[in-house]
Amino acid sequence: MTRTKTVKQNGAAVVDQILCGDACETLRTLPSNSIDCTVTSPPYYRQRDYTGIDQIGVERKPEEYIDRLVEVFSECLRVTKESGSLWVVIGDKYIDGEQLGMPWRAALALKDAGWRLRSDVIWHKPNAMPSSVKTRPTVDHEYIFFFTKSKDYYYYDADAIREPHVTFSEKSKMKGGRGHFGKRGGTPETGKNSGDSNLHDGRWDQAFHPKGRNKRTVWSISLSKFREAHFAVFPESLVETCVLASCPEGGTVLDPFAGSGTVAVVAERLQKHYLGIDCVEEYCDMARRRIAAASETATR
Ligand SMILES: C[S@@+](CC[C@H](N)C(=O)[O-])C[C@H]1O[C@@H](n2cnc3c(N)ncnc32)[C@H](O)[C@@H]1O
Repeated sequence: MTRTKTVKQNGAAVVDQILCGDACETLRTLPSNSIDCTVTSPPYYRQRDYTGIDQIGVERKPEEYIDRLVEVFSECLRVTKESGSLWVVIGDKYIDGEQLGMPWRAALALKDAGWRLRSDVIWHKPNAMPSSVKTRPTVDHEYIFFFTKSKDYYYYDADAIREPHVTFSEKSKMKGGRGHFGKRGGTPETGKNSGDSNLHDGRWDQAFHPKGRNKRTVWSISLSKFREAHFAVFPESLVETCVLASCPEGGTVLDPFAGSGTVAVVAERLQKHYLGIDCVEEYCDMARRRIAAASETATR
């Protein structure tokens, strides 16, 4: 399958580019209802100095940080199509040993700003940085929030991101497992819960759907090995899951905090259009180099 590249400006679609500038300012120049899905990770509160002029994350108070996120994601809402969605990856912060609760503060603020929260996902990082804390558990997860623009219909391809069945294999001895389906080889229709269609649909999906069971809300994904950037880079498989679920064929994926351009690289590989924004010129160049290298590998 080949994909036509679209690079237009002046009010029309602007895609397949990395734009250098402040996320909010740049989003204001984009047309409404033009993006299918946004996958992004904003700078975390007081985590790092990216040295950009308008950089987010260095605010004095958590409330000021949340206000800036709301500004950016409200513009994202405007540029998103009615059927579109938003995946936000965000970690927490401890100050003087106290957890600030930034992910949920952000999620609730985005809900108040008009986004519809559909799911929180735990991104479990099996190779998370070790830590010396002894007064609480070591953190090895971040949050991923899945939002949609519209209240009713939105594009979501559950089949594209199904995961392998684990609960009811042929060898499963799980209590109450096969009993729901009657004897070995039984089906939900003949099991002890025959007649309860809700239970049937759920159990059939869990155990028999030919493409695997519906995606769960804990994703165990190792950190990226991309070392050129001095900040945390998305694992490609995390981005891939969000793009496959939320971007239809020929659609456009946005990342307003593009960093090293992982979202664009994955979109390019999956033959979607992309649009990346970052306020640091050096990172924009890095992203452009990565995208060029990835598309060269794909066409070889
Ligand atoms: C966590 S990093 C994103 C990493 C990215 N997900 C990747 O895979 O490489 C956050 C990025 O946001 C950028 N950033 C910070 N403030 C910004 C602003 N106001 N507008 C646009 N980009 C900003 C930083 O320069 C940094 O590259």
